[in-house]
Amino acid sequence: MNEQNEHNQSEDILTNRQGHPVTDNQNVRTVGNRGPTTLENYDFLEKISHFDRERIPERVVHARGAGAHGYFESYGTVNGEPISNYTRAKVFTNTEVQTPVFVRFSTVVHGGHSPETLRDPRGFAVKFYTEDGNWDLVGNNLKIFFIRDPLKFPDMVHSFKPDPVTNLSDPERMFDFLCQTPESAHMVTFLFSPWGIPANYREMQGSGVHAYKWVNEEGKGVLVKYHWEPVQGIKNLAQKDADKLQSMNFNHATQDLYEAIEKGDYPEWELYVQIMEDGEHPELDFDPLDPTKLWYKDQYPWHKVGKMVLNKNPENYFAEVEQVAFGTGVLVDGLDFSDDKLLQGRTFSYSDTQRYRVGSNYLQLPINKPKKHVATNQSGGQMDYRTDFGKDQNPHVNYEPSLIGGLKEAKNPGKEHEPYVEGNLKREKISRENNFGQAGETYRRFNDWERDELISNLVGALSVCRKEIQDRMVDIFTQCDEEYGRRVAEGLKMAGNNSENKMDEAVKQAEEMGHPSDPY
Ligand code: HEM
Repeated sequence: MNEQNEHNQSEDILTNRQGHPVTDNQNVRTVGNRGPTTLENYDFLEKISHFDRERIPERVVHARGAGAHGYFESYGTVNGEPISNYTRAKVFTNTEVQTPVFVRFSTVVHGGHSPETLRDPRGFAVKFYTEDGNWDLVGNNLKIFFIRDPLKFPDMVHSFKPDPVTNLSDPERMFDFLCQTPESAHMVTFLFSPWGIPANYREMQGSGVHAYKWVNEEGKGVLVKYHWEPVQGIKNLAQKDADKLQSMNFNHATQDLYEAIEKGDYPEWELYVQIMEDGEHPELDFDPLDPTKLWYKDQYPWHKVGKMVLNKNPENYFAEVEQVAFGTGVLVDGLDFSDDKLLQGRTFSYSDTQRYRVGSNYLQLPINKPKKHVATNQSGGQMDYRTDFGKDQNPHVNYEPSLIGGLKEAKNPGKEHEPYVEGNLKREKISRENNFGQAGETYRRFNDWERDELISNLVGALSVCRKEIQDRMVDIFTQCDEEYGRRVAEGLKMAGNNSENKMDEAVKQAEEMGHPSDPY
C-alpha cells in the first residue's frame, strides 16, 4: 500500500474486491431515484455476482458438519513397547512435538442444514498436519460399516437419501436395499440402537473402521485399527429424547462443540490401536480386512497411543469446515493401506469428489495445505496461485529429472513395505462372510434399554415397509439371534393392528384446533 492509500484508507473501511473504497452500500446507481438501474454499476455487479456464487456443491454425503482445531500428542509407546517397533511414522515416534489437527464431525445422509438429532452414523475425520506432511484419518463414530464392497456405495447412499421424485425420506427405500444386503445386519443393529443417535459430538467415540497398516524401519507391516475414546465419556440418546431435543434445537451438536471450546472446556480423545499380525488369519471366523466386523477387545486389546485436544474454533465456517478436504489416501511414511476393498474404493472417491466440489487446487487452501514446505511440479488449473514451487527452484524447470535445476526425488526414509500379492482377477465375495454372528453377539451384549430401543426403532421404521421387505428383515434378524427376530416380528404384528401413525395424529390434532385467522 503506498503512502497516499494508507492515508485515505484505514483497515476497517469497506472496499470492493478490487480494493476500491465503497462510498454507498445502500443504493444502486439509477437514472433518477426511481430507476431504471444502469449496467456500468461495477460495485453492485461485483457484489451480487459474488453472492450468486457463494455456495459450492455440498458434500454428496456428510454435508452437515462442525469442526475445530487442536493438537495430537503421541505417548511414544504401545503396550509398554517403543511404538517404533511397529511404525516409523514420526507423528507417533516423535513425542517432543504437538502435531496440529483439524477435526470435522458430521452426520451422513441429509443436507447441510438438516437436524443433528437424526439417526445416522456420525463422521469423525481428523487431519494431522505432521512434520512429514498431512495424514487424514477419516472415520465414523461406529466401528463397522454397512457394506464391504465399494461398488455398492452409490446404491446404498441413494436408498438412504430422499426419493428422487417426491424428495421424501422413506424407510422403505432404505430397507429395500438393506434386506438384500445381509452384510449390513451388524451396522443396522448398531444404527437402530441408541448408538445411532450420539447425544453430541464431544461425547462420542471415533473409529477408523478399516484395518490399516503400520510399517516399521525394517519395512515390516502389521494390521492396525484406530479408535478414539472421548475423555468426556460416551452418551447416546433414546429416540424420544432426540425427538424432544429436535423440536427445540436442530443444531445442538454444533452449538455444544462451539460453546464448550469458547468457554475453555476443551474436549479430548485418547487414541487407541488394535494390532494384528499381517495375514489372512484362517483361525478366525471372519476376515480381518472385513469392515463389517469388530476385532473383539478381549482378543485384540486396545492400546493407548496418544491424545487429541480440540482447543480452537474455526474463524470462518466456510473457509475451514466447508472447504476442508479429507481422504483415506492421505497417509505419511510409516502408515499404509491394507487390502480392504472398501478402503481402496474410498481412496479414489475422496480426492475425486474434492477436485469437483472445491476445485483442482483444493490443496492450496490454508485449511488443506500441509504445514510443512510443499514443492511440486504440479501447477496450473483454476485458482492456482503458484505457492507450490520449491523455494530455490529454477522457475524455468517444472519437470523432473533435469540436469539444469528443478526439484529432486527424496531419499526413501526406510525400507519399503512390499507385500506379495497373487491371484486370478475376479469379481467374487470374500469367503468368510459370517454376516450374522457378530450382529447377534452385539444384540446380546446391549443393555436391556438399548435392546428395547433397538426393537422399537426397527419396528417403527419397518412398519411403513411392504410385507416382503419386513419378512426378509425379520429373517435376517432371526439368523443373527432367534429372540431378536422374534421380537421384531411381534412388534410388527402389533404395529399392523395399530396402523395410525404419528403423522396422522399430528394432522388430526391440527384439525381439532380449527382454522387460523387471516389478518392480511
Ligand atoms: C465423506 C465416499 C465409506 C467416512 C465422503 C465423501 C465421499 C465419500 C464422496 C464426500 C467427501 C467430500 O466431499 O469431501 C465414500 C465411499 C465409501 C465411503 C465411496 C465406501 C466405498 C465411508 C466409511 C467411512 C466414511 C466406511 C467411515 C469409516 C466419511 C467421513 C466423511 C466422508 C467422516 C466426511 C469427511 C468430512 O468431514 O469432510 N465419503 N465413503 N466413509 N466419509 Fe465416506
